[in-house]
Amino acid sequence: MKKLLSASIAITLMSLIWLVGCKKDTIDPATYVQVDFKVPPGWPQPVYTFENNPLSSEGFSLGRKIFYDTRLSRDNTISCGSCHQQFASFAHLDHDVSHGIHGLLGTRNSPDIANAAWRTSFFWDGGVNHLENQPIAPIENHVEMDMTLPEVIDRLNADPDYRTRFKKVFGDETVNTQRMLRALAQFMAAMVSDDSKYDRYVRNDPNTKLTDAEYRGMDLFKQHCESCHKGQLFSDYSFRNNGLTPNAVNDSGRAHITRRPEDRYKFKVPSLRNVAVTRPYMHDGRFFSLDAVLEHYRTGISVSPTTDPMLIGGIAMSDQDKKDIISFLETLTDSTFLTNPIFAEPTQ
Ligand code: HEC
Ligand code: HEC
Repeated sequence: MKKLLSASIAITLMSLIWLVGCKKDTIDPATYVQVDFKVPPGWPQPVYTFENNPLSSEGFSLGRKIFYDTRLSRDNTISCGSCHQQFASFAHLDHDVSHGIHGLLGTRNSPDIANAAWRTSFFWDGGVNHLENQPIAPIENHVEMDMTLPEVIDRLNADPDYRTRFKKVFGDETVNTQRMLRALAQFMAAMVSDDSKYDRYVRNDPNTKLTDAEYRGMDLFKQHCESCHKGQLFSDYSFRNNGLTPNAVNDSGRAHITRRPEDRYKFKVPSLRNVAVTRPYMHDGRFFSLDAVLEHYRTGISVSPTTDPMLIGGIAMSDQDKKDIISFLETLTDSTFLTNPIFAEPTQ
């Protein structure tokens, strides 16, 4: 089947850019991709609009290189891509909390990054509200990359390939923090995932039919889940307490940022796109299967002053209902996105 890539982000390899004759230029042409950001039909307008940071092939490719560069960590072992893996929709498969430099553990689960351009805030507690500022936290975090921004800039600046690339994107060879953050934002904001079975069904693709179980699951999802996991992004990006018991580090979630008691134990509603490949689940990765998540909503809701009223008492579901909802959630897996070579680690 011909994928209607133009429906979202039409990207083709620009294999023709062959920079022969420019001796200092070691850029592999295969790492250059033509990027075209399009809002999929029926989706809201994105929050990140590339204003002041126009999306370009060179900017995207530079961001990709930085994203996969282990020089961003003190001992050159960890890149952004270590904790954000493409096949897991840029979450960290099978890791409950993040594993950073020297194997040090964080306290939160790596979220997926797909469709980052639509997110109104970043981190489980919404502590950062702009995509371009988000990477500062992991770079400087002592249990993640343990660097300082000036040290990272020095390392990138020492590499002539980076200087050439910065010049191509920004007009001169200056490597600075703002430019690095903008390149990373181009790479992440261009990650549009809109080609799951569910999307093809919504687009009335004649070759896509939901099974009875998937269809029933979609109905049940609309009844029980959609009020928070809303719309085409499967999140209203609000902060809610979905009835998890506080964890060992007593992570207070949104209240950590706002200091307001009414925000205690509220966390950002995550998107459920590609959710079947992003396990484990929740802000601390406490559930290793979707079945465990559904069982939580059925029998595990713990009640505190901030628990969302619509979850108190649990969601009534039969075993069959649970299975059908899981079948529906599995239709949200977008293998086109998960295997798209343009988002993979570049060869150099
Ligand atoms: C050691 C693992 C680790 C590394 C390295 C890492 N991250 Fe993360 N990332 C996380 C964790 C954990 C969170 C959630 C943190 C929180 O909620 O407090 C996160 C959150 C994010 C988010 C926010 C997603 C959302 O919607 O909340 C983005 C975007 C992101 N990381 C991008 C990056 C980039 C870019 C880099 C490289 C500069 C990077 N990460 C390096 C583990 C990591
Ligand atoms: C009242 C709002 C609300 C409702 C209703 C709700 N959720 Fe959630 N959901 C959340 C919040 C908030 C989180 C994140 C909680 C955390 O990590 O602390 C979450 C997390 C999840 C996760 C984990 C995703 C990840 O990436 O870790 C899954 C899966 C999920 N919900 C599925 C469902 C399903 C299926 C239903 C319906 C049966 C449902 N939710 C109903 C608010 C809700």
